[in-house]
Amino acid sequence: MQHTLAFDVYGTLIDTNGVILTLQKMVGDKAAEFSRVWREKQLEYSFRRGLMQRYRNFSVCTREELDYTCTILQVDLGNADRNMLMDTYRVLPAFGDVAEALKQLDKPAYRLYAFSNGQTEAVRGLLEHAGILDCFIDIVSVDEVKRFKPDPAVYQHMLKRCGSTPDSTWLISSNPFDILGARSAGVRGIWLQRSATSIFDPWDDLAADATISLLTQLDAAIQNCR
Ligand code: LAC
Repeated sequence: MQHTLAFDVYGTLIDTNGVILTLQKMVGDKAAEFSRVWREKQLEYSFRRGLMQRYRNFSVCTREELDYTCTILQVDLGNADRNMLMDTYRVLPAFGDVAEALKQLDKPAYRLYAFSNGQTEAVRGLLEHAGILDCFIDIVSVDEVKRFKPDPAVYQHMLKRCGSTPDSTWLISSNPFDILGARSAGVRGIWLQRSATSIFDPWDDLAADATISLLTQLDAAIQNCR
C-alpha cells in the first residue's frame, strides 16, 4: 500500500526560531521571547480569524502579529527592521534532521507533500532555500480554501489535492493542534516532538498514532503503526 505523507511546514520542517539571530541584533536579549510570542500569536490569530471567518493570508497575519509583539514587549522597531524580519521569515532554515529524513523516505511506498497554513509561494521559497523542494510532489496551501488549520475543510482539501484516502494519509507535524485536527478529520497523525518540554494536548477523545522525536524516526514509526 502506498502512503501519502503530508508534512506541516512551520515548526516541523522549517525552524521558526531561525529569526532569533536577526532579532538578537535588533532587540538583544529579548530575542528568544520575541520569537516565541510572535509564533504563538501567529497561531492564535489564525485560530481566531478561522472562527470569525475573516480569512487573511498567513503573511498578513504574520505581519500583524509582528506589530503586536513589538507593542506588547515594548520594542521600538522601525519599518525597515520590521520588513527585514518579514524577509527573514521567507528564508528560515530547515531543522537539521530534515534533509536526511526526506532522503530515507524517497521510496515507492511514499508520496510526499508539504501542507501548510502558509501561501504556496512562501512555502515554495522556504523549501527551495532549504534545498528540499524537489522531495515533494506538490505544496498544498490552506490559502486554496481560505481557511486555517485545524478547520476540517483544510484536511479534506489536502486529501482531495493529494488524491488519497484518510486511512493511507499521514500528517506529520510538531504542532499538536494540527495532529488533533487531522485525527478529527480521520487522517492519521504522527507528532514530531521537537523539544523535550513540548507536550501533547491531553484530550481523551483524540490522540496521535505515534510520537517521534526526530524526523529520521518517521519511516520506522509508520511501519510500526501499519
Ligand atoms: C503550518 C503551520 C501550522 O505550516 O505551522 O501550517
